[in-house]
Amino acid sequence: MREGIAMIKVDLSGAAGFFDPAGPDYAAAARAHRALLEHSGAGAEFTGWLDLPGRIQNGELKQILTAASRIRGRAQALVVVGIGGSYLGAKGAVELLRPHPQPGDPKILFAGNSLSPDALMHLLEELGDLDFDINVVSKSGTTLEPALAFRMFRGLLEAKYGTEKAKKHIFATTDAHRGVLKQMADEEGWETFVVPDDVGGRYSVLSAVGLLPMAAAGIDVQTVIGEAIEAFTAMSAQSPENPAWQYAAARQHLYRLGKTTEILACYEPSFRFMAEWWKQLYGESEGKNGIGIFPASVEYNADLHSMGQYIQDGPRTLMETVVSFEQPLNEFSVPFAMGDPDRLNYLAGRKLSDISRMAQEAVKAAHITGGVPNLEVRVPKRDEAGFAWLVCFFELACAISGYMSGVNPFDQPGVEAYKKNMFALLGKPGYEDRKAELEAKLTEKH
Ligand code: PA5
Repeated sequence: MREGIAMIKVDLSGAAGFFDPAGPDYAAAARAHRALLEHSGAGAEFTGWLDLPGRIQNGELKQILTAASRIRGRAQALVVVGIGGSYLGAKGAVELLRPHPQPGDPKILFAGNSLSPDALMHLLEELGDLDFDINVVSKSGTTLEPALAFRMFRGLLEAKYGTEKAKKHIFATTDAHRGVLKQMADEEGWETFVVPDDVGGRYSVLSAVGLLPMAAAGIDVQTVIGEAIEAFTAMSAQSPENPAWQYAAARQHLYRLGKTTEILACYEPSFRFMAEWWKQLYGESEGKNGIGIFPASVEYNADLHSMGQYIQDGPRTLMETVVSFEQPLNEFSVPFAMGDPDRLNYLAGRKLSDISRMAQEAVKAAHITGGVPNLEVRVPKRDEAGFAWLVCFFELACAISGYMSGVNPFDQPGVEAYKKNMFALLGKPGYEDRKAELEAKLTEKH
């Protein structure tokens, strides 16, 4: 078990000045973790993600692999239609592990996450006349953005292959029993995958929601699931050595000291959408009842040249969490240049990864001096195992951290407000009263 935990390391030394010698409040983390494991905390009916990898391994994994190999065998593109928790995990994984399609990989295109006609046009241009399949992902089956995109891409598919053949090109990932999408899938005979009842959207990446697009992209999802099982087992340890305790307790401690914004940083540009996934996970889980750390993200080194000033010298309300991959997958050395025209020969022969490491140390020291506590999360490599451990670690720490702050980390009542207004303004049947109310308000303003 100890060896397993070593797959993920949390280094709190960059925040040491903010803690008592005893460190953060591990007793509170322990209580929160127990409540989670004993299913005695708020929202316990949505904690199925804790044993999801094992259930998937014994359940849908085979069907996912079969469908993915069918997609890979015949499609040049897979259009994944979804928003929020129904797309960010898959997008994060694909960008992190398979940023560029390799020979034989279909392009993975993500649709349904905006209402921008220009973005839709761009996607259609990318799709061109490629042979394609659709994976429509929506737990509720009623979310407007993906539902509209699906209607359009389904139309394209039917125009291309004919109504009957198109049915074999659609994979629907949705609730096991309820919702319009489930009903349509049953009526049309589309192959379906399940978003389990006890797993909310933002915790669903290790279900078919994330795994089908990942497998279609060529990611080894069997390894992801195997590693995730190990990760959750190892991190069930009731110990201050548990990295999830360390991270959850540290960020809650820093929040109480006025560090109300957490910036998640990574020196790998391919991590960008993992950070978007993390922002949803933490923002939707913790931002409620008037409290919660604001999750933001930066991409280093690029953002050091745009956000660096603010981080170093702006309001001292920031904490910084840096995710790093210890061993690069590639290596380069700086070439020697005759005459040293650019004055860089002092770096000749040095590995780019070493230079990057030095830069990271320099940034860390500067930010700590500037009053920004620094937390580090390290995994060995940017591979399937690293991805799985990061996902399990962040999910678990998020639930622990949420319970520590006294919120239900598994609901999202605030998301409904905009949806109701949007449906009302668009004239959806059933929203007539709200429409009148909103229109009266809007007229008052003008
Ligand atoms: O976490 C959440 O609940 C949301 O982000 C949802 O995932 C998002 O709104 C999409 O919902 P659905 O899968 O029902 O279309």
